[in-house]
Amino acid sequence: MIVRTETIDQRIKTYISQYQPDKIVVVVSETSEALCLPILQIYKKTDHIVYHLPDGDRAKSIGFCEDFWESLLRENVTRQSLIIALGGGAILDFTGFCAATYMRGIPCIYIPTTLLSMVDGSEGGKTGINLYGTKNVIGTFTDPVAIMRNADFLQTLSAGELLSGWAEVIKHALLTGGILMEMVAKGMPEISDIDAWIDLIRENIIFKKGIVAADFKEKGQRKLLNLGHTIGHGIEAIHFEDSEINHGIAIANGLYWESLLGYEMGYTTKETFDTVDQLVFPRFPKVGWNESDVEPMTNLLMHDKKNYNGKIQLSLLKTVGDAAYDIEISESDINAFLTKYATALHEPID
Ligand code: GLY
Repeated sequence: MIVRTETIDQRIKTYISQYQPDKIVVVVSETSEALCLPILQIYKKTDHIVYHLPDGDRAKSIGFCEDFWESLLRENVTRQSLIIALGGGAILDFTGFCAATYMRGIPCIYIPTTLLSMVDGSEGGKTGINLYGTKNVIGTFTDPVAIMRNADFLQTLSAGELLSGWAEVIKHALLTGGILMEMVAKGMPEISDIDAWIDLIRENIIFKKGIVAADFKEKGQRKLLNLGHTIGHGIEAIHFEDSEINHGIAIANGLYWESLLGYEMGYTTKETFDTVDQLVFPRFPKVGWNESDVEPMTNLLMHDKKNYNGKIQLSLLKTVGDAAYDIEISESDINAFLTKYATALHEPID
């Protein structure tokens, strides 16, 4: 499930000797090629084609899909071939989508290289690209043939990248409580404490696997995983040009603001709101919005693909380990909440 480099090398070798793919294509980003590919034996020992993508969401475009599909055709890649996606969530989303649609589906292995993609993006079968600025609007639900998580790759991450994954770890802990919450309450492990990370990532995957097994296509309880992501995506969008505010910072703040909203709606208990507050701050910087952001943010939230009947559909916590999905909030209510807390950043709530 979550292992070290030698085990990944062994698993790739076993897969190759078992299925004898006629071609192997390794998809990398600039960063995963520089920091992660050289760590793996496939880099030195196995014949493979490398396909290069830029870092981050820039890769998730129809233009890169076309270029990649064209390369696959040119290289005579077939259903007997193997694609290996080595990178963070964007690389897995892109490669998973292209592999799922090329020749109606060819085998793809995910090797996530970031904490975020280890605990979230690699699990659950969501693939996708963006179109005209709308995230993940084109995609499929397709599982890879294997997911190989290498804890050694955590050493290659910056503090900001670790923090990005930590926001999803907090989200999972809030949703499930129990042993994962106990681990998270102790704080982020030292980066050198590989065993602690392995345990932590394993618990995250067990939790996410359970949700996905019950609701692969997100018709019901998988929507719980959207906790923090409604206001979080709004924050991410209005701070789009600020490279300091990454996905994790936006989502951690989304968890905070949504628990405050839940508290004000009489839904989330005060104790739960306080727990969220303590888990998020001061590890994450506090991020809010200005009065001038309220209208664009309201519009953005009203166009979320999770909405139904012209209303925002939220997932909210009642208590730690007990959340609900499809909680409706109207345009005027979200607007009133955003107006009330514009520029407030993070003030004590009585
Ligand atoms: N990242 C949320 C999900 O996989 O459903």
